[in-house]
Amino acid sequence: MKLKVLLTLLAATCSLDGNCTSQKFFHTSHESALRQASAGLQGETDEPMSEVIERALTRAHRQAQILADSMERHQKRLPKTFERGRLRTCDYGDWVSGFFPGTLWMLGEHFADTAMLSEARRITARVEPAKRLKNTHDLGFMLNCSFGHAYRITGETYYLDVLREGAQSLLTRWNGRVGALKSWNTNRRWQYPVIIDNMMNLEFLCFIARETGDKWPRKVATKHANTTLRNHFRRDYSTYHVVSYDTITGRPHAKNTAQGCNDSSAWARGQSWGLYGYTMMYRQTHKAKYLRQARRIASFLVSHPRLPADKVPYWDYDAPGIPNAKRDASAAAIMASALIELSQLDKGPRAAEWLAVAEKQLRTLSSSTYLAEEGEQAGFILRHSVGHLPGGWEVDVPLTYADYYYVEALLRLQKIIGAH
Ligand code: GLY
Repeated sequence: MKLKVLLTLLAATCSLDGNCTSQKFFHTSHESALRQASAGLQGETDEPMSEVIERALTRAHRQAQILADSMERHQKRLPKTFERGRLRTCDYGDWVSGFFPGTLWMLGEHFADTAMLSEARRITARVEPAKRLKNTHDLGFMLNCSFGHAYRITGETYYLDVLREGAQSLLTRWNGRVGALKSWNTNRRWQYPVIIDNMMNLEFLCFIARETGDKWPRKVATKHANTTLRNHFRRDYSTYHVVSYDTITGRPHAKNTAQGCNDSSAWARGQSWGLYGYTMMYRQTHKAKYLRQARRIASFLVSHPRLPADKVPYWDYDAPGIPNAKRDASAAAIMASALIELSQLDKGPRAAEWLAVAEKQLRTLSSSTYLAEEGEQAGFILRHSVGHLPGGWEVDVPLTYADYYYVEALLRLQKIIGAH
């Protein structure tokens, strides 16, 4: 009821076409309405959200210091996970290589911690050779999440040069007939596989287009987003994981999963990548169809009967054994970060709900169930993520991308609600 009254008041400040009489006033009243409505949906909680965020960021900062210290002993390596009592590392070519450097940049900047920023600089350099990789689509994750923050924070041309070279490598994976960037190199099963995760590379291409004035990377990004929008989604706006295209006709020849429980299931992290991808593409382009798609995905997810009350998804919304199936903290962290952004871009009636769900997710992830104690699990921040359950690896472990998007979500939310 409270939500309805607030949203009616909010609507009264806007003209019929959605434009507001005063952008400044709208901005302020929209945000405060979101806050109040969100508090109404959330119910009373003991710890104010601003304190949850501060506590969680302080823990994340401490954990990142611990992990950075142990990475000194692993020259040229990047952290991947902590499994069976051991820190597992990878090299620059792993899709996760950029997340820990990115987490260091975000936390170093937030805490004005010059030692952490120096560590971020050292560890980011380990990812540099990825700029020449042409056998993977993951260059957005690898380079934009590491070098992207480095360039944003320092403005140094070295970082931009690496990003430019990396974007050129990524663009070699474009096929105009298909209208998409290829995700994995072909195998017998798939001619031209494109996975929903690939939406996450598009921010990198939009950024490069803006920085260099070259329109092509942005054109590729929008065409890829359009092709994915046409072919990846089901009637209920859940997404397939893998769509493979016939390279002669350019049309899909297979719709499958690799990491979900079956071809028609809703693999949780894939749904979060899709939500994040279309929300981000709306921010980049202001194209209404991307906002519509983001809303539809958000609606599918937040209304899902098998999304638990604490809002941390099972690893697949159709996983066998629910409610005893494994949860995936990474899917929750990515979804929370996307919902926070969507709540700010979407001026429609469900914006408050997007924010309330994200807050609930961050509260849950910041509880003792998910947030590691200081010094635990080699300095990884969150527990209980799932990398690849059908493959039997990284099940119920910490993961660098869960930590990265958790920190990003905390910082995004703090910006909205204010530091104090
Ligand atoms: N991009 C791979 C994953 O989400 O597991």
